[in-house]
Amino acid sequence: MAGQLRGAARILGSWRSYCLKGQQVKVSADFVKKLKAVVGESNVSTADVVLEQHGHDESTHRCSPPDAVVWPQNVEQVSRLAALCHDYRIPIIPFGTGTGLEGGVNAIKGGICFNLTHMDRILDLSVDDFSVTVEPGVTWKALNYYLRDTGLWFPVDPGADASLCGMAATGASGTNAVRYGTMLENVVNLEVVLADGQILHTAGQGRRFQKSSAGYNLTGLFVGSEGTLGLITTATLRLHGIPEATVVAICAFPSIQAAVGSTVQIIQSGLSVARIEFLDEVIMDACNKYSGLTNAVTPSLFLEFHGSQRVLEEQMQRTEEIIQQNGSSHFAWSKDPEERNRLWTARHNAWYATLALRPGCKGYSTDVCVPISRLPDIMVQAKKDLEAFGLIGALVGHVGDGNFHCLLLYNPEDADENRRVKEFVTHLGRTALAMRGTCTGEHGIGLGKRQLLKEEIGPVGIETMRQIKSVLDPKNLMNPGKVL
Ligand code: LAC
Ligand code: ZN
Repeated sequence: MAGQLRGAARILGSWRSYCLKGQQVKVSADFVKKLKAVVGESNVSTADVVLEQHGHDESTHRCSPPDAVVWPQNVEQVSRLAALCHDYRIPIIPFGTGTGLEGGVNAIKGGICFNLTHMDRILDLSVDDFSVTVEPGVTWKALNYYLRDTGLWFPVDPGADASLCGMAATGASGTNAVRYGTMLENVVNLEVVLADGQILHTAGQGRRFQKSSAGYNLTGLFVGSEGTLGLITTATLRLHGIPEATVVAICAFPSIQAAVGSTVQIIQSGLSVARIEFLDEVIMDACNKYSGLTNAVTPSLFLEFHGSQRVLEEQMQRTEEIIQQNGSSHFAWSKDPEERNRLWTARHNAWYATLALRPGCKGYSTDVCVPISRLPDIMVQAKKDLEAFGLIGALVGHVGDGNFHCLLLYNPEDADENRRVKEFVTHLGRTALAMRGTCTGEHGIGLGKRQLLKEEIGPVGIETMRQIKSVLDPKNLMNPGKVL
């Protein structure tokens, strides 16, 4: 239906007119002119191929192109563009690297996509205060490259080289969260353009304190808001000192139970591990092929410890004892930076490596998170359920946080397989909720987990979220149809 309407709109040329879910959206040639008056002719596009590129992320959610894409150059332009959309009741969809996994950028009600990647300055680095401010075009890898000679680094590292403001918007995390926390713990302040164009500084303009108890936590409110409350135009981040020494280890196990059981014991014994990642035999095989590794094709843990030489030795010894008690057949460690880089690059590429196992397929990644004591149960069960649902999938996880992914590979043309994927995902989400966990530890709600969010947070929780949304965005223009 939407496709037919889009076709008709194209025939009309200067008009794009859709009527989705009762909401009439119109972007006229005149409105496009107004956008161009703010950002210049070359920073607005209505070319089909560009709209298509901006209508989806890396998930399987169907492409929903916006009506136009704009590339603002600074916060004043973002503010003027937002005010314009507000006056004309046009939806606003913030866009960074487009590497999300929950359909967060799909313009399901049309509107204007704000591609923020031209705003790519790193501002206000304070080595003394362990703090930096970045614009939306700066990715986590670019920031760490910039910091390379300062003795500092930023630890939040999702698989893709995502933009830091996008990571704030989705509450992202990665392999270091077990020691350094997620975006929530590492964002100090945000500059946000609200739906009507007003500019908010969530912790007060220019502030970068270590802690605060000043009123409501507006920064926390915008972390994970997925573009539904405002556009994040700068993020002030907490940096960390590069550790004196680093050691990585790989351990091979006879079963998922043994690998994940070891993780639980390592965490419960208070060992301060910096990274502890689980990869099942399917993912190990995929990473070997994709990243040229030669690891044993068996459930495994990739570990990393940070600290002084003396502390590291003690931690490694205690870890080795735990994993040996759990039947680990192989434990190898290394202090070589190249080896370390190879290992973590392979881990960051695990999603792409898995997609490459079944060419032509689509991939969906679950991301439930449970209290650590329940992790072995849910992961063993998930592996069995994959078989019971007749699905091809693999398990990988940030297991130190109780968070893991089932990477499902399926044929989008096969209606029955599609149905089984949906059922599996809902079943796994509900299992996590029954274990007092969450339906999303990392990727957010987006389009696909709205029902699970309702079940997770309950009616009063959802109503509170709705009320917050309606105060900040009464016309429902900010990334409509996501989260709630
Ligand atoms: C990862 C993504 C899927 O952990 O979150 O690789
Ligand atoms: Zn992940």
